[in-house]
This record gives sequence, structure tokens and C-alpha cells, in this order.
Amino acid sequence: MTPDELSRQLAGFPQLLSIQTPSPLEPLPQLTQKLNGPQIWIKRDDELGPGLGGNKGRKLAFIMAEVQSQNKRKVITYGGLQSNHARMTAAACAALGLEAHLFFFAKRPFPLTGNLLLNDLLGAKMHFIPFGSGGDASMTLETTNRLVRILATLRVGPRAYFMPVGGHSVTGCLGYVAAALEIHNQSAALNLPLDKITILTAVGTGGTLAGLLAGLQLLNSPINVLGLDIGKLWKAFPSSLARLTNSLHEVIGSVGHNQAQTMPLIEKTYAGPAYAHPTAQTKVAIKLLAQSEGILLDPVYTGKAFAGLLDLVANGRFSPNDILIFLHTGGLPGLWAYPDLFDFQD
Ligand SMILES: Cc1ncc(COP(=O)(O)O)c(C=O)c1O
Repeated sequence: MTPDELSRQLAGFPQLLSIQTPSPLEPLPQLTQKLNGPQIWIKRDDELGPGLGGNKGRKLAFIMAEVQSQNKRKVITYGGLQSNHARMTAAACAALGLEAHLFFFAKRPFPLTGNLLLNDLLGAKMHFIPFGSGGDASMTLETTNRLVRILATLRVGPRAYFMPVGGHSVTGCLGYVAAALEIHNQSAALNLPLDKITILTAVGTGGTLAGLLAGLQLLNSPINVLGLDIGKLWKAFPSSLARLTNSLHEVIGSVGHNQAQTMPLIEKTYAGPAYAHPTAQTKVAIKLLAQSEGILLDPVYTGKAFAGLLDLVANGRFSPNDILIFLHTGGLPGLWAYPDLFDFQD
């Protein structure tokens, strides 16, 4: 379909919250020169959405409209202790006068730092339950969501809206179908050769990747996308992502043919020991971008993914004519939550 047709299709889905799109798409000239490889660009989704911004802004815009249409007053979601998704949900709920119930499957830390501190300031109700909730690759993402939904609904009540981890629903991921359209249009307006472009993004629950992929496929865009797994979180993850991508095609009135084997995802390679454990390369990547372009990345998602980008460039995966668009998905409050892991003296 053409960009105008996709734009009309997306306009049929209500959105709430103002998230100031398009986010900037900018070249990184100093970094490109240092790497002496492909041209590196950055897409600033870290600047979008409520509560200090990040990729969840685009998802929440669609999800919050669904919450409103169902007349829900309470919203449940969950994530890792430093979940940016939880923090942005707390901000969206505060802005709309709703109650946010955030579930964390860990002991309540003391003191509250980073995103947890912000959740508290935003008035969210935090529930700390110190036993497992998946996220260790023992369960699929869908099973984890089903179990948490049962448990959290018992606690908060049956009338609450349950939002899957990371806003990983078809409704939420329409936000990244819209982002694919935005990147396609911006790149065309900048006269960039579309067939040379690869978008790289961090992958946690994978909704961002699925939305981008579905959007580019719907447009028949020559732009490629590649996801970099940062956490080894879910069992049979590529199958879940293929299903979500095909469901996104379906709601737009098309048929997707994605399968686990065809998902553009580098699983595990750059995830380090586990989710939320920054690697030595993560620190190097964060410092390199900070000191060459004045742009900050986070230790859990974007720092790990950017380390993956640097490794792929160093290993000759891309040619000097290629253009890499790194999607900055936000997460910066996490920088204040890992003081021990980040000794900036080294
Ligand atoms: C800062 C940041 N980047 C990337 C991601 C990954 O996005 P997704 O869950 O859509 O894969 C998340 C959340 O999971 C995030 O908070």
C-alpha cells in the first residue's frame, strides 16, 4: 500500500496523549567519521511521550485510547524493576486521571532509584511480589502475560485494564507501524537511498520490532529493519514475534507471512549474561556516543543494542554506502539506577 493509504488506515484507530511526532531523524557525522564505515543516523524516539519519553509513548497513545473506550479507571501493567514501560504508563495514567498499578516480581528495593523513584512521584501504586514472573526464558511471552493477568486482576479487581508487558499488544504496536511510515516518509524527504537503509532497534518484548517490520512490509518499503535482543527473556520468542507481526497485518486488512525463521532478530548475541546486566561493551558504546555526539543511551536497552551495532560495523556486516538508523528508544532514567555497574572512572 502507498504511504497515504497506510496513513488513512492508521487514522481509523483512535489515539490519546499528544506525543509530538515526527521525532527527529538526524545524522551522526562525528561518529560516522570515527567508525569509517556506513553512515550512522539516529531516530530520537527517546524524545516522545509522557514521563521523560521513550518508545512506549507511541504504544501508549493507541493503548490509552482503548482504555478510555472501555471506560476503565485502573490500568495494570508489569515489568522489570527498572521498567521504562511501567514509568511511562504511570505518567500516561497521571495525565489522564487514571490509577496505574505496576507489578514487579521482586522485593521492594530501598531506596527507590531511577524509574522506581519516578513511578512513586507520578503517584502509581507499585506492587512488589517477590517470586518469578517469567523473563528468564522459561515461559513464552504470551504465557507470562496470561499468568500475570490472573494474579494482578485478583489483587486489583476484575474491572481494571490489563496491559501486557512492554505494551506488547496489537493495539500498542500500531504505534510502531506508524513509526515505520514516519521513517519511510522522512528518509524519502531527505533523499536517502531507501534500499541502503537498515533501522536497528533494541528488542525487549519485541513489539517495537514487530510494528516496524509490519509497517515496512505493508508499505513494500525497501528499508530493512534488524532487532537486537537485549535480554534472552522469552521462550520461543521469534514465533511470538512472527505471530504479532502477522496480527498487525491483519488489523490493517492485509495478510502477513512472517515465520519464526524469517524474523530479522539477532537473538542472545548482544544480550550479555542477562537482562539488565550491562556488559563491558555496553559501557564502551554509551561513552562513545556520549562523547562523540553528546547523546546519552541507557544501560539496559539502547546501550546494549548500540554495542551490537558497533560490533556489526566492526565485523564488516555493512558497506560504506549503507545507512544505519539507530532507533533511540529512551530508557535514560535507568542511568541513575546502576551506580555500581557504571564506574565512569574506567
Ligand atoms: C528504553 C527501551 N528500549 C527498548 C525497549 C524494547 O522495546 P520492545 O519491548 O518493544 O521490544 C524497551 C522496553 O522494553 C525500553 O524501555
